[in-house]
Amino acid sequence: MIPIAKPFASDEEVAHVRDVILSGMMASGDVVHEFEQKFAEYCGTNFGVATTNGTTALHAALLAAGVKPGDEVIVPAFTFFASASSVSMCGAKPVFADILPDTYNIDPKSIEEKITDKTKAVIGVHIFGQCCNAPAIADICKKHNLTFIEDAAQAHGASWNGVKAGALGDMATFSFYPTKNMTTGEGGMVVTNDKTLADVIRVLCNHGQTEKYLHTMLGYNYRMTNVHAAIGLEQLMRVDGFTATRQRNARIFSEGITAEGLTVPYVAPEAVHVYHQYVLRVEDSFPMTRDELMQYLADKGIGSAVHYPIPLHKQPYYAEENKDMVLPVAEDAAKRVLSLPVHPAVTEEECRYIVDVINNI
Ligand SMILES: Cc1ncc(COP(=O)(O)O)c(C=O)c1O
Repeated sequence: MIPIAKPFASDEEVAHVRDVILSGMMASGDVVHEFEQKFAEYCGTNFGVATTNGTTALHAALLAAGVKPGDEVIVPAFTFFASASSVSMCGAKPVFADILPDTYNIDPKSIEEKITDKTKAVIGVHIFGQCCNAPAIADICKKHNLTFIEDAAQAHGASWNGVKAGALGDMATFSFYPTKNMTTGEGGMVVTNDKTLADVIRVLCNHGQTEKYLHTMLGYNYRMTNVHAAIGLEQLMRVDGFTATRQRNARIFSEGITAEGLTVPYVAPEAVHVYHQYVLRVEDSFPMTRDELMQYLADKGIGSAVHYPIPLHKQPYYAEENKDMVLPVAEDAAKRVLSLPVHPAVTEEECRYIVDVINNI
């Protein structure tokens, strides 16, 4: 089976982790600081604060933006659960916006419709590795005095008009989960150009401690360890290579798949897409349903996955309070999308095999 995801690890990651373990300095320390600096620099930002995962990065960023109970935060309905659950973790309400049918990213028009006097922030997810229209969102946020947080969990190295994911909003959060474009095992990072926000996030992620045993706010233990950062430093040196292979694989799919009723990903002219996922859209004119296609591919040894089968306003946890909400584009996308294996371990030959299997249906 060609798996839908396969994390890369080499002797270099193993050697770096070994060195850190044998140094005895396994908790957060110099290795984490080096990773924070280098990753922030990679994004074109001044500050990075490493965390335990992408969800805690979002939680810390939202808290630093001052999001509290009673506030609302606008979130796209078509994303991973954590983009919204992190808002709920602040005691605030995620307000779901619809998406654009071509990129699956949040629709700036839908954001404007959802703004109330309780809105505090907007989370713009860069879904599947393509940036959302950040300049349009930044304008809306500026006009309404809202904080713009990029959820860049899937978008390491992506850019919009030449500006990297991470440097497009007031803050941005990343995930380094093993299936992501680069990994630390589990891990996350908040990056920003705002020193005040970076300082607050650092305190929030370290028990609210401004000096040893002096706790000035309610904080958490969201610190990354040196062991995880060692993996991150090795992966950061390779991430552009991983991306190039993902882009090559995506090119083979997009140029090769000609089957009637399948729509290949649209890439906005402003975007450099890093293909965290390569997502096909199964139209009604295709001879199989999305789920039948998934089974057919599995029978041919090709893994695939649905990202995401249930839009967030329909998730059991959020469904009751949103029972009258209709977001037609997100709801339609959830029924039609299918991700193919695009990760760097998929060879050119395997990509061509996948294209042939699909075109021969
Ligand atoms: C868009 C998005 N946001 C947030 C997260 C949460 O990241 P983590 O799994 O590292 O907590 C993910 C992870 O899948 C994600 O895809």
